[in-house]
Amino acid sequence: MSSNYRVAVIGCGRPRTEDGATGFGMSHAHVHGYLATGRCELAAVADISRENAEDFVGRYGGTADVYLDYHEMLAVVKPDIVSVCTWPHLHEPMALAAIGAGVRAVHCEKPMAPTWGAARRMHQAAVAAGVQLTFNHQRRFLEPFQTARRLIRQGAIGTVQRIEGSCGDMIDWGTHWLDMFFFYNGETPAEWVLGQIDHRQEKRIFGVPVESQGLCQIKFANGVLGLLFTGHDADIGCANRIIGSEGTLELHNSRPHLRLQNIHTQGWVSYTTQEGLHGGIAIDRGIAELVRSLDQGVEPELSSHKAVRCTEVIFATYESSRRRGRVDIPLEAEDSAFLTLLGKGAWAGSDNS
Ligand SMILES: NC(=O)c1ccc[n+]([C@@H]2O[C@H](COP(=O)([O-])OP(=O)(O)OC[C@H]3O[C@@H](n4cnc5c(N)ncnc54)[C@H](O)[C@@H]3O)[C@@H](O)[C@H]2O)c1
Repeated sequence: MSSNYRVAVIGCGRPRTEDGATGFGMSHAHVHGYLATGRCELAAVADISRENAEDFVGRYGGTADVYLDYHEMLAVVKPDIVSVCTWPHLHEPMALAAIGAGVRAVHCEKPMAPTWGAARRMHQAAVAAGVQLTFNHQRRFLEPFQTARRLIRQGAIGTVQRIEGSCGDMIDWGTHWLDMFFFYNGETPAEWVLGQIDHRQEKRIFGVPVESQGLCQIKFANGVLGLLFTGHDADIGCANRIIGSEGTLELHNSRPHLRLQNIHTQGWVSYTTQEGLHGGIAIDRGIAELVRSLDQGVEPELSSHKAVRCTEVIFATYESSRRRGRVDIPLEAEDSAFLTLLGKGAWAGSDNS
């Protein structure tokens, strides 16, 4: 039976185009999704910036309470669902506090965390407590990706052999593409990862240092190979490419977003999609689905069970670079090998061009 949920948001931000923005203000997209369900009310927000919190409540909250301390908010308000919309180093303490406070569900922004240990601890804590934990890999809900998966399932490219992706970095953007690799490949687990990273220019995204250039090869348990290229010279001519025994699918950032060629087509055939590879509607759909999953007690599409798989590949890539060798899954090293190496000055003296 349906019931209404009291939602709290931690980290309000400001929409990215507005004065005072420090990022994208993802919380605004989350609250839009909750309110659109017609089943959720915004009960409270917590932000160390009173200005951001009060502005947020002014827009959406009505009578929602404002807290500067999320621990106090969790203890007093006891929300049903908590959205964690802060930068990655805060995801673990906030998700663990919410789980410890007895909430029913936590919906957290990607990437899971800056280290593999932190990501795994969140997942394990949620499983142990029976709390629904999800991460916002929202592209699972966009038309071009769903159409691509449907075509793969229908055999349009024969048997999938290789999945390729290209983006700016492994952890911030790569988390989306690696999640899509699992999505295309029927959520088949990874068996090993071989990777390399380079760091010659200081860059941080949402406070997390990222590599200048990276390469990640994944072997999935069904024999499919994944290849993700990141950073400098990572362009492979499309965002995602799925190569099968009888054809190829490509997803592009610009129109047409999806195209196919196979043994029956003469050259590329473009698909007209109403949606592209980005879009807030996907966040609404993800939230509607996680609310339905909470009602029904079933695993949501954005579950931490899925998020840990792509996250493990990110940290296994870093670990492979540290070990100079293949890393078999499961990954045991708790740290981020990249951050550890960076701290030891591993790339000191690298060309800064
Ligand atoms: N899913 C996507 O496509 C997507 C897109 C952009 C960003 N993100 C992710 O969203 C997350 C948040 O990014 P953003 O751009 O929304 O951030 P933001 O900078 O817009 O907002 C962060 C808010 O957190 C608040 N905050 C900081 N420390 C806090 C604390 N201790 N307690 C409470 N509030 C605190 C800040 O005051 C700020 O209001 C990041 O992990 C980022 O990677 C996801």
